[in-house]
Amino acid sequence: MSEIKLKKQTAIVTGANSGIGEGVAIALGEAGANVVVNYVINPDAANDVVQKIKSFGPDAIAIKADVSKEGEVINMFQQAIKQFGTVDILVNNAGLQRDAKFHEMTLAQWQFVIDINLTGQFLCAREAIKEFLRRGIVPERSVACGKIICMSSVHQIIPWAGHANYASSKGGIKMLMQTIAQEYGRQKIRVNSICPGAIKTPINTAAWDTPQAYNNLMELIPYNRIGVPEDIGKLAVFLASDDSDYITGASIFIDGGMTLFEGFATGG
Ligand SMILES: NC(=O)c1ccc[n+]([C@@H]2O[C@H](COP(=O)([O-])OP(=O)(O)OC[C@H]3O[C@@H](n4cnc5c(N)ncnc54)[C@H](O)[C@@H]3O)[C@@H](O)[C@H]2O)c1
Repeated sequence: MSEIKLKKQTAIVTGANSGIGEGVAIALGEAGANVVVNYVINPDAANDVVQKIKSFGPDAIAIKADVSKEGEVINMFQQAIKQFGTVDILVNNAGLQRDAKFHEMTLAQWQFVIDINLTGQFLCAREAIKEFLRRGIVPERSVACGKIICMSSVHQIIPWAGHANYASSKGGIKMLMQTIAQEYGRQKIRVNSICPGAIKTPINTAAWDTPQAYNNLMELIPYNRIGVPEDIGKLAVFLASDDSDYITGASIFIDGGMTLFEGFATGG
């Protein structure tokens, strides 16, 4: 069943050679999509993801592009369209942290995170929308003209001391996603956000790699386990498929209940 869901569709996943992006790229490939595995460093890891997807049957290629660079993003879409004919699904996943106390945060730390996490999503979404509008709806592939999934975070609503640049980028993604969803709903383009809580990836190693850190983390998660990239992959397949055809402009929290504010279970 799942392998026919995204058959003949093409997905671009940014930052797809690590963590959540890798999990999403593999899940989309398992669901039948051809996948562009975007990366900026570590081509070997990108090629491993490509080989894994090809082993399920669909095609995949790795394309190097820094999502914060307009020319590189435009070039990535041109290469993808040349290879696969069009793009049906964009997963705006690439992101990073440069943490600092707010009064010590440099402009460079602020700008670097905003450029990649927020402007990168703008640049990729713009190219995707242009391609969706050029191509129009192809009913045998999907009832929608195109799907964009933005990787946000619980920190689009939970303030995060020491991470003002990151939290601001995620708050910005919320409004970017909703505005595009509103602007292109009539053209049958669906735009949604996935808002993960703590997912076990290289971005947050310090939060789970010692028993002490893991126990502290569990105090924030009612469901009492850390998430894994496969959790996010399954949600991405759903949001990319026609099964979620009436969902647009939504932020879906996938966080083991982190946004239930566990501290209030006994306090408050
Ligand atoms: N892991 C979590 O707990 C968690 C929680 C909420 C949100 N997220 C979000 O999920 C996304 C993926 O993070 P992750 O946890 O998998 O971390 P990760 O570090 O494993 O992956 C991030 C990916 O983005 C890529 N990247 C960084 N800068 C880039 C650029 N300029 N151009 C292209 N690619 C670039 C990295 O090379 C890497 O492949 C991020 O947007 C992150 O904010 C993660």
